[in-house]
Amino acid sequence: MPCIVVVGLQWGDEGKGKIVDILAEKSDAVVRFNGGSNAGHTVVVNNTKYVFHLIPSGALHGKKLIIGNGVVVDPIQLYNEIEFLKKNGINVDLHISERAHVVLPHHKFLDSSLDTKHGLKIGTTRRGIGPAYSDKMSRRYGLRMREYVESNFRNILKKIVRGKISILRLYGFKKSFEKYLDEVYSEYSFYAKELKKYVSNTTYLLNKLIDENKTILFEGAQGTLLDIDHGTYPYVTSSNTIAGAACTGSGISPKKIDKIIGVFKAYVTRVGLGPLPTEIRDEKIADRIRSIGSEFGATTGRPRRIGWLDLVALKYAEKINHTDFLAITKIDVLGGIDRIKICVKYVLNGEDTEIFPSILENIEPRYIELKGWRELSREEWREIASSGYNTLPREIIKYIECIEEILEKPIKIISIGPSREETIFRQI
Ligand code: GDP
Ligand code: IMO
Ligand code: MG
Repeated sequence: MPCIVVVGLQWGDEGKGKIVDILAEKSDAVVRFNGGSNAGHTVVVNNTKYVFHLIPSGALHGKKLIIGNGVVVDPIQLYNEIEFLKKNGINVDLHISERAHVVLPHHKFLDSSLDTKHGLKIGTTRRGIGPAYSDKMSRRYGLRMREYVESNFRNILKKIVRGKISILRLYGFKKSFEKYLDEVYSEYSFYAKELKKYVSNTTYLLNKLIDENKTILFEGAQGTLLDIDHGTYPYVTSSNTIAGAACTGSGISPKKIDKIIGVFKAYVTRVGLGPLPTEIRDEKIADRIRSIGSEFGATTGRPRRIGWLDLVALKYAEKINHTDFLAITKIDVLGGIDRIKICVKYVLNGEDTEIFPSILENIEPRYIELKGWRELSREEWREIASSGYNTLPREIIKYIECIEEILEKPIKIISIGPSREETIFRQI
């Protein structure tokens, strides 16, 4: 099964990191193709938690790791993650696309400034993502990894800073041109030297691996509803997050993709601003889910907003990605809630609809309610994971099968805890 794409179907944080880590064991390479260090992918092994922002989540298995052209790379963050792996005795077989763009300090400055006092507040991660992609798309001030790690970095940087400084001034940037240039050059030339050995033409590498019939996992960052084109614009990220982006963000043909796996949570969460139609207004329930599910951003630590599972949104995400099968995560978190709601329709201008509209204001969710299940201990969940699907509480099986029926897609992976062992693979 050579090329497998794993994508999030909601607003990010669906548990992609955990699923990718498990699938990576039987893969030869893991590829990131979009986003940057705004991503926070958690992997839990032997009670130790690892959070990856730029390094693909297959890292702990020592697999070949590829950062594709579609990613925006923060050199400091990447360097720190590489050092972390090395310190833990993990082999780092990393390949960074020479076409991937670099996130520089002025991108982070602009991101913060636009999100606080000078623009629309989106509640970004402030990792410089929007401004870095803007510079890439505008083609004037973008910096690619190849140019960055070559020795004429200072000259290129000079041109970029000269071009950008007047724009930066409008947003309150105070440093002089010379000071900023010197600072960035002296700090970032160190990372350029350190990262140079990892930079290559990953398009050829990846296509060669595919020709050799190697198994390659493509790890999506963010989720479908944060996609720049298909998400809840403007409250989205600045890259394409859907399965199709695996091709554009890494340099492979759509014909090479063999499987697409969509990951979703048993409820929904969202960090940052923007519409969340099924947001739970009952604070007691929302707080309970947030605390049991540790729903705090893996990148920024912000509390995540919590909502009931939204099947209108999920069906829309499913259409765009056309998955082969689904992975549901965090079902364990809902234990102990009497009645579980699932949104199956929206009401828009007084009419029922199953369409996920481009403007989400003024819509009202319509729910069905299912009986909940009791709260189980971690030992009980582990026991269920080792005994298989049919040992899940009856109400959970009903919940899963209700979702499958509405989405018309099988759920083959069921995650019932953060660790690798707390996972059920279903043969259907
Ligand atoms: P990602 O961005 O999609 O990789 O997801 P995050 O890592 O940001 O957030 C998912 C969080 O849920 C992490 O803390 C995971 O350790 C945790 N997690 C993943 N699957 C499960 C699960 O089935 N049950 C529970 N309780 N936690 C899970
Ligand atoms: P993973 O890969 C959840 C959200 C931010 C903000 C919006 C724009 O861990 O699922 P950005 O910094 O990208 O310009 O922020 O997108 N966001 C995420 N939310 N998970 C993520 O990644 C996210 N990456 C960005 O909170 O609302
Ligand atoms: Mg995350």
